[in-house]
Amino acid sequence: MRLPSPVRIREVGPRDGFQMEKAFIPTDLKARVIDLLSEAGLRSIEVTSFVSPKVIPQMADAAEVLGRITRRPGTICKALVPNLKGAERALDAKADVLELVIVASESYNRRNVGMSVDQSIEGCAQIAKAAGERSIPLEVVIGTSFGCPIEGPVPEAQVERIARAVAAFGISRLSLADSIGAGNPAQVARLVTRIKNVLPTMPLSLHLHNTRGLGLANALAGFQAGVDTFDAGLGGLGGCPIFPGATGNVPTEDMVNLFEEMGVSTGVNLDKVREASRLIQQFL
Ligand code: COA
Ligand code: ZN
Repeated sequence: MRLPSPVRIREVGPRDGFQMEKAFIPTDLKARVIDLLSEAGLRSIEVTSFVSPKVIPQMADAAEVLGRITRRPGTICKALVPNLKGAERALDAKADVLELVIVASESYNRRNVGMSVDQSIEGCAQIAKAAGERSIPLEVVIGTSFGCPIEGPVPEAQVERIARAVAAFGISRLSLADSIGAGNPAQVARLVTRIKNVLPTMPLSLHLHNTRGLGLANALAGFQAGVDTFDAGLGGLGGCPIFPGATGNVPTEDMVNLFEEMGVSTGVNLDKVREASRLIQQFL
């Protein structure tokens, strides 16, 4: 097996995991968990999202979270944004990187952000401009790249169309998301290869959920197809606001373990991640 090393694991639990929790996690606790994750050596952490507090009340303290965490040199504190308003809020709150979500399935995108896919793509151009003016990188995550709970299979051509469109705006990274954990390893390898062929210089990441227990297998398939950056969430918390049947991200602990056991370096201290998981699980 070809084993390029190192891989980069990006922590997304404080956004993707926390957003599903009903009880409001106090801002100080969020900040302590995030600080432990950066101490653990996670160099990219999705710390929050600048979405509507009416839709996702857990993320109402997005700016406070960014203000309260320890900003460690070399650790990127990223914010998910759904639209230009969210991007402007995230820029004002001094996020290091913005991540715009565009869902490949038309009905899911409308339900998630109230826009058509093409409107989200237009929004991406405006957000790229706003972020560029402040020299802040913009990444794009393409949701439901491997299947949608409303529409079923998502054509690979649709994912490619979005990828090509946003690449033209000078984004710094593209992430393919299996938002509901519908993908399988053969599919992951196929789509990764397709996107790498059309956008060979675009940094590519995978964002995988574990609904059907295939998260790690999908990560391995992506790794073998040449992906070196993977999202994961502490403790595997979370689910999907649109599809109640889905479960959380691949647990960070499992993702680190997978690669370290194969001799592929992640730079992540598992004990510290477990400490962060314990801290949040005590609250939940
Ligand atoms: N942050 C905070 N408020 C926002 C916002 C943002 N990013 N975008 C819009 N709003 C506000 C508007 O200013 C407006 O406020 P008002 O009622 O006080 O005038 C209100 O929300 C409605 O604006 P509208 O443009 O009609 O948006 P909407 O109601 O269709 O909601 C989103 C659009 C994108 C804000 C909302 O669907 C959302 O937050 N989605 C994110 C869902 C999510 O987090 N999913 C999981 C992660 S992928
Ligand atoms: Zn997710």
